[in-house]
Amino acid sequence: AATTRYEAETSPAVCTGTIDSDWAGFAGSGFCNGTNAVGAAVQFTVTAPTAGTATLHVRFANGTSTARTANLLVNGATAASATFESTGTWDAWTTKTLTVPLSAGSHTVRLSPTTAAGLPNVDHLDA
Ligand code: GCU
Repeated sequence: AATTRYEAETSPAVCTGTIDSDWAGFAGSGFCNGTNAVGAAVQFTVTAPTAGTATLHVRFANGTSTARTANLLVNGATAASATFESTGTWDAWTTKTLTVPLSAGSHTVRLSPTTAAGLPNVDHLDA
């Protein structure tokens, strides 16, 4: 099926932090630099055409040498966990693929860091 791109800088997406454009290579007009704290988040509103296992592609950069970990919450409930490995530099982007069951319709899909290191920089989600 065709995928839809959800940019982190485009409403109704929410970025608990700042929308930045100081590192090259992002798509759209910027990326979410989430606050480096537990509970900060980037949140997308994802529409699933049919119920089933949704494949989510999160484009991110992690310029530190340490992986950053997050929970994936669907409509506020933790549905999966995610590890965002180092990409070497902040302008090196890669895609993390996550799968999660979604019913048909619109859902909030939120990535929330599990440590004070926070999230990687997040460019967009394709689903
Ligand atoms: C640096 C970098 C940011 C990044 C931050 C972080 O400040 O410039 O883009 O978000 O590190 O550690 O999360």
